[in-house]
Amino acid sequence: MYRILDKRRLNDQVVQMTVDAPFIARKVQAGQFIILRIDERGERIPLTVADFDRAAGTVTIIFQTVGATTQRLATFEPGDEIADFVGPLGRPTEFGAPKKAVVIGGGVGCAIAYPQAKALHEMGVSVDMIAGFRSKDIVILEPEMRAVSNHLYLTTDDGSYGEKGFVTDVLKRLLTEESYDLCIAIGPIPMMKFVSKTTEPAGVKTLVSLNPIMIDGTGMCGGCRVTVGGEVKFACVDGPDFDGHLVDYDELMRRNSFYRDEEAHACRLEAQIHD
Ligand code: NAD
Ligand code: FES
Repeated sequence: MYRILDKRRLNDQVVQMTVDAPFIARKVQAGQFIILRIDERGERIPLTVADFDRAAGTVTIIFQTVGATTQRLATFEPGDEIADFVGPLGRPTEFGAPKKAVVIGGGVGCAIAYPQAKALHEMGVSVDMIAGFRSKDIVILEPEMRAVSNHLYLTTDDGSYGEKGFVTDVLKRLLTEESYDLCIAIGPIPMMKFVSKTTEPAGVKTLVSLNPIMIDGTGMCGGCRVTVGGEVKFACVDGPDFDGHLVDYDELMRRNSFYRDEEAHACRLEAQIHD
C-alpha cells in the first residue's frame, strides 16, 4: 500500500498528491509515468510523474477529475492509502543537448510540462515556457513554472489573465524573435498537433508526450497503440514522448474517444454512490 502524504487542490478540477513511494522515487526520470489502482477492484490509471524527491522517497502526481476513478481518488486525504502504484514506466525524455528550449503546457498538461522545464533548467539549458489556460481561475503551478524558466508567457483563451489567445499565438511570435533548438509540448491533442505544425516549418525539434488509453503499461495489450512516422508504436514502452512532427494526431483523437459513453456512465454511478 502507498500512503498519501500530502494533498493540494490546484483548482476546482485538478488535485496534486504526494505519495510515499521510495523505490519509484529512487529511479524515476522526467517523462516517465506510473500506473495506479486505488483498490484491488479499481481500474488502472496511468499518470505522468509531476515531481519526485529522491531523498524523501516521494513521488508527486497531478490529475484532473475527469473520470470515475479520478473523482474517487480526489476524495482521498493524507494518511489514506492507494493499493497499487507501479513504476517508473515508459522511457525517460531524451532531451539531447539543447542550448535554448521552449516548453509549452496546455491546461493540466502544465503538470507534465513543468518537470520537463525543471529538468532542462537543471541541465543549464535556457528555458522559455508558454502556459495556456482557458481562464484565470484555473491557472496552476505559476510560481513553480516561473522558477524554472527565463520567461513564462501565460495565455488565457478569454483574456482574463496574461495574453489573450492560444499558446500557439505566442509561439508563432517567439519563433520570429528567438532561436530554439528544442520544443516540448504537453497538453490537449489539438494543442500538440498545432504546436507541431508551427515548429515544423521552422525546423525546431519537437517532442510531445502522448496520453492514449493504457491498460497494462507493459507493451502487452496494445491499448496504447499510436502511429508515428507511419509505424505502429506503443506509448507505454516506446514513449510516452514522440517526435511531434511524425504523430498521427487524428487517429489518437479517434482512439481516445472510444470509451467516452462508458466513462460518462461510470461517472454518473460514482456520483450516485457519493450522494
Ligand atoms: P484546455 O482544453 O483548456 O487547453 C489548454 C490550452 O491549450 C488552451 O488554453 C490553449 O492555449 C491550448 N490549446 C487548446 N486547443 C488548442 C488548439 N486547437 N490550438 C492551439 N492551442 C490550443 O486543456 P485542459 O482542459 O486543461 O485539458 C488538458 C488536456 O491535456 C486533456 O485533454 C488531457 O488529457 C491532456 N493531458 C495530456 C497529458 C499528456 O501527457 N499529453 C498530460 C496531462 C493532460
Ligand atoms: Fe498495453 Fe501499452 S498499455 S500495450
